Amino acid sequence: MSVFSSLLPVPADPILGVTEAFNADPHPDKINLGVGVYTDQTGVLPLMDCVRAAEQDIAAHPRAHAYLPQEGMAAYDDAVQQLVFGESSPARLAGRVVTAQTLGGTGALRVGAGLLRLANPQVTVLISSPSWENHRLIFERTGFAVEEYRYYDQGTGGVDVDGMVADLEAADPGSIVVLHGCCHNPTGSDLTAEQWDRVIEVLVRRGLVPFVDLAYQGLSQGLVEDRYAVEALVRADACFVVANSFSKNFGLYGERVGAVHFVAASSDEAARVRSQAKTVIRSLYSSPSTYGAAIVARVLTTAELAALWEQEVDGMRGRIKQMRAEFRSGLEAAGVTQDLSYITTQAGMFSYSGLSPRQMMRLREQFHVYGLDSGRLCVAALNPGNLDRVIEAVAAVMTS
Ligand code: LMR
Repeated sequence: MSVFSSLLPVPADPILGVTEAFNADPHPDKINLGVGVYTDQTGVLPLMDCVRAAEQDIAAHPRAHAYLPQEGMAAYDDAVQQLVFGESSPARLAGRVVTAQTLGGTGALRVGAGLLRLANPQVTVLISSPSWENHRLIFERTGFAVEEYRYYDQGTGGVDVDGMVADLEAADPGSIVVLHGCCHNPTGSDLTAEQWDRVIEVLVRRGLVPFVDLAYQGLSQGLVEDRYAVEALVRADACFVVANSFSKNFGLYGERVGAVHFVAASSDEAARVRSQAKTVIRSLYSSPSTYGAAIVARVLTTAELAALWEQEVDGMRGRIKQMRAEFRSGLEAAGVTQDLSYITTQAGMFSYSGLSPRQMMRLREQFHVYGLDSGRLCVAALNPGNLDRVIEAVAAVMTS
């Protein structure tokens, strides 16, 4: 009898499993709209010019591979904190923000969850309905009970903000509420500024703990615009957590570069949070790796590279919007009569198509177009070379 004999097989990951199925498909014209990865006009994952320049600079000054501290590279943490909170954020200037470099956005969520579990192990975590599939897994595996609050309005394709507010009003004080800072994953439907203000008022009044997942900064409206929720939470004097990632907006997927930020009530409290966060990191992986953070730090702290990065992020955002517009008009031209305005009003890398798991299976099996069973399609992977085939396939499953 093996020690592992009680382990039953589980289904493949709902997102990463799609990549596995895609890779296994020998069809020459297969198209992967599953995982959230941005590809360019030619269908290739780009190496951004700002990243290439930083890498050349790093390669020109080789260094030995020392350990980083548990919370990562100081220059990186400071630059990322400025990006996420704004250089002159009152919380930042008061020394109330603790930032730690993490292994991507997932690592940031996991470290944040670990710290919150030390602070208050009994509370419930609320995630949006629906949410990124990994949110539930991360918080459950950290030991929390996970429930959902209403979010997506099937009827309008927008946010059911009344339902969301009602669920938050009914939540137990101390509950952790996971929020998507921008480019909601999977729906692409975000709160407006006014809706954020309304939700934040409830969060603060009810003593709930906001945990903002900011994995797509720059891909909705702009780098500054997309941190609205973070700035509004600081204005509301909330104590909260932010997880951010540079997988998408720097194209550094495989380098696992992210950060977790804790906004404490005072600088004294921040010092205690920092010391505890270091133990969480120590127990998980001791300290993060250097290379990806060195790239991001170099770009963010070098004025010309930072300007180039912003320009490249603007370009990605513009290209995604263009693909959304062409996808929608192509479907309309192909005879789809249902309201498709959601394709162009949703923001970020994903479009929540409303297609059923059965229709998504048909897309895969008949047309070799891969999306998630939830109906999510990665529009950031559309390009002039695959758009017509995607339109033909989606129109076919929508109309028959
Ligand atoms: C996605 O939602 O596709 C991305 O965030 C990638 C991932 O790790 O799931």
